[in-house]
Amino acid sequence: ERGGYPHFMLKEIMEQPDVWSDCLLGRIQGDRVVPEQIGLTPEYLQRVKHIQIIAAGTAYHAGLIGKSLIESLARIPVNVDVASEFRYAHPVMEPDTMVIAISQSGETADTLACLRLARELGHFTFSITNTVGSTAARESDAVAYTLAGPEIAVASTKAYTTQILVLTLIALALADIHGHPRPDLVRGLLQLPLLGHQVLDVMEPVKDMAERLASGHDVFYIGRGRDYALAMEGQLKIKEISYLHAEAYPAGELKHGTLALIEENTPVVVIMTERDVADKTVSNILEVKARGAEVWGIVDSSLPVGLPIDHRIDVAVDLPELSPVLAAIPLQLLAYYTAVARGEDVDQPRNLAKSVTVE
Ligand code: F6R
Repeated sequence: ERGGYPHFMLKEIMEQPDVWSDCLLGRIQGDRVVPEQIGLTPEYLQRVKHIQIIAAGTAYHAGLIGKSLIESLARIPVNVDVASEFRYAHPVMEPDTMVIAISQSGETADTLACLRLARELGHFTFSITNTVGSTAARESDAVAYTLAGPEIAVASTKAYTTQILVLTLIALALADIHGHPRPDLVRGLLQLPLLGHQVLDVMEPVKDMAERLASGHDVFYIGRGRDYALAMEGQLKIKEISYLHAEAYPAGELKHGTLALIEENTPVVVIMTERDVADKTVSNILEVKARGAEVWGIVDSSLPVGLPIDHRIDVAVDLPELSPVLAAIPLQLLAYYTAVARGEDVDQPRNLAKSVTVE
């Protein structure tokens, strides 16, 4: 049932390109996203003026990438909140706010509470979930399934990348209807499965990196924009299965306090797929290098050679807006191989349930 893989997590990482095809199938026609295929109508999308995303854990990290995509492509303002915070925060929402709940299981208690709150306040509620017939799906006005298939490993991988894909489809549908069509990105989505296979084919160096991390005490992940959202997911993934101390920082924020923790040989993983700010991130790499950090870069392969990093893992980024799902792969594998090297129970990490149905 693990398809010849030693763990479900590895199987689920490896099957991502195929799962992405399933997730995209039928949802794109020509140069456009078909709103009805993600549970929405053009008439409703036309009316959306604000978006509130709520989720927990990994799904929250997908939501952060969704915010960046919706805001930059469709120019519609988006808030993203952790469900356990939002539900008690006396949230203020503008009329015509679409509330999007993201949940692999569709059963996370805090996320469901937020959905109920949003409905009480009279908002349109929309769920992105992997579980057909889940409570989130049943209790929302509309639903889009991630179609990732059953995710058995506790650490979420393929559910996360398909959540990002569904959010990308929403961003592109909104962008089209609000007058900013991006046919290049819509077509580009269909190339992702192929690019995903290419990324998986060159992941050997991640094993060396994992060996190095496994024998250490901590690791920092840095990036800007969507790369920071990826950094947060990278650190969560490694913490939850390898129990290594990890921290994610916006690359430009380190110098506001935390840089003191970077010492001789502290491992730092820098994610650089956002070309617009690559040179800014380079200056942050120099800051950590000056303190002796050992730096691994997960970088857009079109960036020049000679970056001030010690080890380079290339991700073939064609269109930067579509790169998060590709850059997620080395981060997932890094967590996986580090946990394996430390002898941990990868599929059943301690103190973590697949579905958190209590508050
Ligand atoms: C991460 C993980 C958790 C879940 C979180 C939300 O690998 O498993 O952080 O992502 O508990 O779960 P769902 O998406 O089911 O609401």
